Amino acid sequence: MMMPRKIIIDTDPGQDDAAALMLAFASPQELEVLGVCTVAGNVPLAQTSRNARVVCELFGRSDIPVYEGASQPMQRKLVTAEHVHGKTGLDGADLPEPTMPVQSQHAVDFIIETIRREADGEVTVCTLGALTNIATALVKAPDIAPKIRELVMMGGGFFEGGNITPAAEFNIYVDPHAAEIVFRSGVPIVMMPLDVTHQLLTTKARVARIAELGTRQSDVMVGWLQFFERFDEEKYGSDGGPLHDPSVIAYLLKPELFQGRECNVEIETQSELTVGMTVVDWWRVSGRKPNATVMRHVDADGFFDLLIERVARF
Ligand code: RIB
Ligand code: CA
Repeated sequence: MMMPRKIIIDTDPGQDDAAALMLAFASPQELEVLGVCTVAGNVPLAQTSRNARVVCELFGRSDIPVYEGASQPMQRKLVTAEHVHGKTGLDGADLPEPTMPVQSQHAVDFIIETIRREADGEVTVCTLGALTNIATALVKAPDIAPKIRELVMMGGGFFEGGNITPAAEFNIYVDPHAAEIVFRSGVPIVMMPLDVTHQLLTTKARVARIAELGTRQSDVMVGWLQFFERFDEEKYGSDGGPLHDPSVIAYLLKPELFQGRECNVEIETQSELTVGMTVVDWWRVSGRKPNATVMRHVDADGFFDLLIERVARF
């Protein structure tokens, strides 16, 4: 019997972050969530911290500690995305205010302390928002970089371009300086870019399968997905919107769903036109050393089969 993989989830909930948290909470045999860290992004920090606790309580995991992290990017001014996620960041379902507390320890110190405490190669960091917390931890405690097993992130885009600007995906755009630190850290990175997440569409048929479960959790999930996708259907003219963040957790549960390759990735931080762009050397023309496994293909049906099977566990 394999021991569950120890993970830290760093997140800016966000309906798709909430779906990723659900997927992790539904998989205790495979994943041990050491803590949930919040960061400003989709909505300001106070809201992402509230939302993270709302999600923990909805899925019966108020035992998981929630740590508040950065309220601002390392250098740039915070950009949020209420136009996508609604004012609360979790629009689409009415849920009670959380009763579980936020931990008093700062998320950055929790990340450092946890990685230093655990054996080398034990902890996987999963980032679903801007990389501010993990980058700050790497600057404050460079000794943790070689101890991290893997950093699996939703972020960036190459063949698909950007979603917040023509060149940049939101998580990288919010804090490109943090992304630059992470991609130069030497930590083994698995990158789930828009090239993958744009294949993971919450089509009406898939949402109907979730609705058929008829539980409180599945009803809330349907409300989130239907709210979240209205913006994307308009923008992409597709049946459903891309479900970004659960790809990170799905990779840990069923890596065979994904295909990609080792590439060099550099982050644009200077030009206002392209700031936040992930410059992926997919065709290896730069001679720069590969620093990430960049995913490009996913079995979308297999992904949703997994997601729906797991939400049915609550
Ligand atoms: O660009 C998509 C990413 O930005 C997702 O993580 C979404 O939750 C937002 O944080
Ligand atoms: Ca997110």
